[in-house]
Amino acid sequence: MPVPCEMSVSRRGVLRLAAGAGLMFLAGGLIRPDAARAAAFAAPPLPYAENALEPVISARTVGFHYGKHTMGYFDNANKLVEQSPWAGQPLEKVFLEAAKDPQMVGLFNNAAQAWNHAFYWNGLKPGGGGEPSGKLARAVDAAFGSAESCKKALAEAAVAQFASGWAWLVADGEGRLRVVKTGNASNPMQDGLKPLWVIDVWEHAYYLDYQNKRADYAAGVLDKLINWEFAARNLG
Ligand code: FE2
Repeated sequence: MPVPCEMSVSRRGVLRLAAGAGLMFLAGGLIRPDAARAAAFAAPPLPYAENALEPVISARTVGFHYGKHTMGYFDNANKLVEQSPWAGQPLEKVFLEAAKDPQMVGLFNNAAQAWNHAFYWNGLKPGGGGEPSGKLARAVDAAFGSAESCKKALAEAAVAQFASGWAWLVADGEGRLRVVKTGNASNPMQDGLKPLWVIDVWEHAYYLDYQNKRADYAAGVLDKLINWEFAARNLG
């Protein structure tokens, strides 16, 4: 299936390439240059400093969440994909194919988590928040009535997701927006939906800063960090 989701890469956001790697994120997702041979998935660098999301998300949380968790998913995906039929394929294709095979659950979990985290980091920005504009604003109003109602739906989904997972703003095949939540590593592309934005509600995303108060973390992200321009680019 086509995966039109854009990874929002500014010039600074273009992926750091691992030594010998042939993959990079570009608009439209991961691509593999023809010249690439043994390719590796490479995590995009943070598009801001580790402390840039404070006070909503501390530098300590970003340091662990990006430096350990995100990198760990990429590292594991790189190891596991070599033992699969999809070595050298784009990250989206790998996790969407692995999702169909119960024998590939380890690869699915790590590849999907790598994709989800790259998407999450690029969907945040210092000085974010506010309201969308243009086509996205019209789509938000059509689906939710207002940006505030959209953020309320995202906050409710973030809180309602039982245990680890994600709350997403997505577009269906007709371009209609909705909020969905997924558990663990799952991604709305598995259901044919186009991700526009996401909030990570795994405890590692907020526990150092908020302990059990996931609602406070979600409210801070939606009020101060949501990158509507990223969502607008993904809507296309
Ligand atoms: Fe996470």
